[in-house]
Amino acid sequence: PPPTLLEAENAVIGQGVIESNHAGFTGTGFVNYDNLVGSYVEFTVTAAQAGTATLTFRYANGTAVGRPMDITVNGTLAAGGLAFDPTGAWPTWTTRTVTVPLAAGANTVRATATTANGGPNLDRLSVG
Ligand code: GCU
Repeated sequence: PPPTLLEAENAVIGQGVIESNHAGFTGTGFVNYDNLVGSYVEFTVTAAQAGTATLTFRYANGTAVGRPMDITVNGTLAAGGLAFDPTGAWPTWTTRTVTVPLAAGANTVRATATTANGGPNLDRLSVG
């Protein structure tokens, strides 16, 4: 099946703001994480059955420094300090993919900044 596209601006935002001032995003905007440890975006991902899924985060990082994030699924760490490397400019978007286990039904997928710079600008999550 085609991937499910979940826009960050429609997700639960824990310390961040929806913005649209850097071109190239999908949907109506992106989330600008607050620049601190612990800022997060949480998506609800529905799976027809239990198993592994490929999560693809579309993001931009216009700084010279990586903005790693912990990826948790239903509160359990699935990928610690996943790298969100610089993309060269804020309007330059790229993707970062990780494979995680999902349960059947609704899952909470949270991406939490682990450094004082916060997370990257997050456009969307694709679930394949
Ligand atoms: C700039 C940029 C924002 C970005 C922020 C940051 O202010 O315009 O889109 O989120 O830097 O460093 O997080």
